[in-house]
Amino acid sequence: MSNPRVVSGRSNEDDAGFDQSLRPRNFDEYVGQSQVVGNLRVAIEAARSRGDALDHALFFGPPGVGKTSLAYVISCEMGVPIKATSGPIIEKAGDLAAILTALEEREILFIDEIHRLDAKVEEILYPALEDYSLDLMIGSGPGARTMKIPLKPFTLVAATTRAGLLTAPLRGRFGIVHRLDFYSVEDLQLIVARSARILGVRVDSDGVREIARRSRGTPRVANRLLRRVRDYAQVRADGVVTAAVAQAALAMLEVDEHGFDEVDRRLLMTIIDKFSGGPVGVNTLAAAISEDPDAIEDIYEPYLLQIGFLDRTPRGRTATRRAYEHLGREAPRQVGGQKNFFG
Ligand SMILES: Nc1ncnc2c1ncn2[C@@H]1O[C@H](COP(=O)(O)OP(=O)(O)O)[C@@H](O)[C@H]1O
Ligand SMILES: [Mg+2]
Repeated sequence: MSNPRVVSGRSNEDDAGFDQSLRPRNFDEYVGQSQVVGNLRVAIEAARSRGDALDHALFFGPPGVGKTSLAYVISCEMGVPIKATSGPIIEKAGDLAAILTALEEREILFIDEIHRLDAKVEEILYPALEDYSLDLMIGSGPGARTMKIPLKPFTLVAATTRAGLLTAPLRGRFGIVHRLDFYSVEDLQLIVARSARILGVRVDSDGVREIARRSRGTPRVANRLLRRVRDYAQVRADGVVTAAVAQAALAMLEVDEHGFDEVDRRLLMTIIDKFSGGPVGVNTLAAAISEDPDAIEDIYEPYLLQIGFLDRTPRGRTATRRAYEHLGREAPRQVGGQKNFFG
């Protein structure tokens, strides 16, 4: 992502080591997403009992909801090794060909951010996914011919934040396609409690709930908040995370009761104040708040849409009545109400 704020703010990089230690290893540790997990359990059991490679699987959803974790869980549950790479890292068709020819039978290849795969690289994938073979071009000009190289049966597990950017032929080659949704507060409580156990953080059930409530439905955010609240508890309280300690810590971090941070608030405020509530196109909005349009679409907007603070119309984004109310602004009469996520 081109915007350095985003990299240090909410993306994966700063959490890499931390994510790893808290990553669920198998289905029993993987909280929530019960329908996805249920389907995968059946597919894995069937593939295992036949001795086959699992069907290629595509997971899409916002950042931090467990796509990468699921790839590792699948490798563990299948009892096969996994190699991980990502769309932007694979520059040349030859790079991917080298990876594919080195895969063991039934091994998992995990490609993160698959929507950022180069078109020429993507073409190599089609026959590989379809019938485990590579079509290599030998020579050039009129004498050129293609040669088929067989691959061992393998499983591609791919993840993307933007299923809409995948080409139809690529998308069509996945036998298993699942959307990972935001998590309920109950599921996030389980995740926070488990992470606290692993990290040795003392936290009571109200403290767990407070962190879960403000995590934007996102496990990665929940773990990050837990870590920050722990620091605060250690320095400012007696090391125990209670609801009051969590509230004070999160107030200091400017995370409000919906888990919004400064960018979320600036985004909503800009739509309301500068664009009279919208509609405003995403690029215009991005320029107005000096954020990357991709970051708005990938990171900020999905949760605001989900909880009904933002609406997406063909002409752009609009702020809803709930957004006006949350920010203490008077909503014009024509602004619609939205479904209430918080009940
Ligand atoms: N279903 C889950 N159960 C428990 N922890 C989870 C779950 N999903 C995600 N996490 C936690 O959130 C972190 C980020 O998840 P990750 O799989 O990297 O998300 P994504 O690949 O979708 O961005 C993981 O390291 C893990 O600690
Ligand atoms: Mg990931």
